[in-house]
Amino acid sequence: MSARSALPAIATAAAAVLLIGCTSTEPSASGGPDISLVKSGKLTTCTHLPYPPFQSRQGKKIVGFDVDLVDLVASELKVKQEIVDTPFEGIQSGEDLNTSTCDVAAAGMTITAVREKNLDFSRPYFEATQALLTRKGKPYRTLADLKGKRLAVQQGTTGETYAQKRAVGATLVQFEDLGLLVSAVKTGQVAAGINDNGVLYDFVKDNPDTEVTAEFSTGEKYGIAVRTGNDALRKKINQVLADAKKDGRYDTIYRKWFGTAPSS
Ligand code: ARG
Repeated sequence: MSARSALPAIATAAAAVLLIGCTSTEPSASGGPDISLVKSGKLTTCTHLPYPPFQSRQGKKIVGFDVDLVDLVASELKVKQEIVDTPFEGIQSGEDLNTSTCDVAAAGMTITAVREKNLDFSRPYFEATQALLTRKGKPYRTLADLKGKRLAVQQGTTGETYAQKRAVGATLVQFEDLGLLVSAVKTGQVAAGINDNGVLYDFVKDNPDTEVTAEFSTGEKYGIAVRTGNDALRKKINQVLADAKKDGRYDTIYRKWFGTAPSS
């Protein structure tokens, strides 16, 4: 055998060793012995209800798109998900995670630079944009149309921040949760409300006396959050999300809550 023809054989042997190395270390790397949970045997999730179709109460159960995704993580960890309903302010500020109220926060929460300082996000799992909800037939299609009018915002949200910057001349009326915000629009206490497109489209489906009249292309992406530095859990979530996208479980869950296939 010449030296030249021996080279590929050596290269192949080396590649084979590498491959074997990978497959044999993977199970322990992804098995998560270093993941510690605030309540043993449970994956405790902080969220803020109602926020359908991401999380809301259905009878005694809490259901939704985010709930199903976190269930995939819980089952990978061989524990059950337990959900804690708590104001969005403490979720988005990182307080609930840092005081170990929860292991994860899954609340249709947008990844932002400010929040990244106080908690750590998984890779994005959903895209959203701010949108405007009004009573049907009202002439409010832009933020400029709301000058001198009352505009509902949800406390601590990206919609509130957007309105503070862009809804010049509107009177912002703050609501603690989405349910209060949408009913203020429906009953005419406010001219319009701003929130994420997914939840507003979900609301108008069952409330044909209301409509979504604008989207503001804020280009938001939702992430599941863990306390700063909890890389073991964050990596596990990323791995579960990636696997679920690959094997179709993400699409199935998406279809269940949105009725269509995801666009990307
Ligand atoms: N996506 C928006 C934000 O992150 C609103 C999220 C509100 N979520 C909730 N479960 N209440 O600010």
